[in-house]
Amino acid sequence: MNWKVPFFDLVLGDEERKAILNVIDCNWLTSGPRIAEFEAKFSAMLGQNVGAVAVSSATAALHLSLLALRLGQDDEVIVPSLTFVACANAIRYVGAEPVFADITSEIDWNISAADVEAKITSRTRAIMVVHYAGYACDMHKLSGLAEKYGLLLIEDCSHSPRCAWKGRSVGTFGATGCFSFYSNKNMTTGEGGMIISGDPQLVERLRTLRSHGITTSTYQRFKGHAFGYDVPEVGFNYRLDEMRAAMGVAQLQKLPEITIQRKTRVQRYREFISNRLPQVRIPFLGRDEESSYHIFPVLLPGNEEVRNGILRAMADRGVQCSIHYRPIHTFTAYKGVAADVPITERVAPSVLTLPLFPTLSDAQIIEVVKALEDCLKEYNYSS
Ligand SMILES: Cc1ncc(COP(=O)(O)O)c(C=O)c1O
Repeated sequence: MNWKVPFFDLVLGDEERKAILNVIDCNWLTSGPRIAEFEAKFSAMLGQNVGAVAVSSATAALHLSLLALRLGQDDEVIVPSLTFVACANAIRYVGAEPVFADITSEIDWNISAADVEAKITSRTRAIMVVHYAGYACDMHKLSGLAEKYGLLLIEDCSHSPRCAWKGRSVGTFGATGCFSFYSNKNMTTGEGGMIISGDPQLVERLRTLRSHGITTSTYQRFKGHAFGYDVPEVGFNYRLDEMRAAMGVAQLQKLPEITIQRKTRVQRYREFISNRLPQVRIPFLGRDEESSYHIFPVLLPGNEEVRNGILRAMADRGVQCSIHYRPIHTFTAYKGVAADVPITERVAPSVLTLPLFPTLSDAQIIEVVKALEDCLKEYNYSS
């Protein structure tokens, strides 16, 4: 498909190219100095005293978090249904049960602290929160609940590098924070992820679990810093490689600028849509300073059929849109899991995500809004 406006576009350049070529020149490809550099720079960005463990994806980060925190059979983890399926899948990987909580309101699509509290049972061990679209959850309320009921908090920060709640980086409130560097994320390594934690013992355990449960790395042995290893427990191969870590360091440097560029685009969308299409609602409107502006979802008028029709009609006009998300409890693999989430069920059929990336031009934004206006007219939802 030849899109006039694709859903996302990569911002890569000489910095990433040079970083990767430099790894090749250095002749060391795995778990070496670039991983250490990437981890150190990532944790420094968060401005808190946390350790960072680079992994192969955010899904691996979520899985290892649950494992390292010893979640398992008979445990319940409260999680939003309006998120990517990896959240619930990771809970299932360790044999625990996801319990779906609702979003806060029709304009705040983050997990509702009130509904989390209502869903706590004697089996609840953890709350997994997602900072949807790059807007921080109410960490004051959610941390308070975790403390009050003795629960673990796991933060899925896949949408939210450089996002803060009242000045403190998200990811640093929970037992762990999990980030994604998948190609459509705010910063990318192609595939990749990071786990952060303020607990040094947990960080060590995560490091071991990331590489088969082995206590020393090949690089440490190559350098003569270690001569053997033990395997205290069964781990996984969830390692990131040096090329990706080098690319991550280059991307990290660009992230402040990328975030500003995203913010400007979101502000333009908000301005145009508020003025021209009042029938379209914009979640998180007015949430400004501390967002990472990962995606730009809107709430359309009409039902699911209208939304699906508009998604296709936008594609016919050369504009690629997406949906974030089909609620997890509606997928076949999660059929039968109870989900009392009325606001999610009201909102999800009308969610449409418009294209957003740092180099999206003003002309493209106008093109998207004009296309949306025409599509709404087609479905008799003119302003
Ligand atoms: C909210 C959320 N969680 C988890 C993931 C999984 O990320 P990864 O592809 O790095 O495993 C994604 C990726 O799209 C996501 O959006």
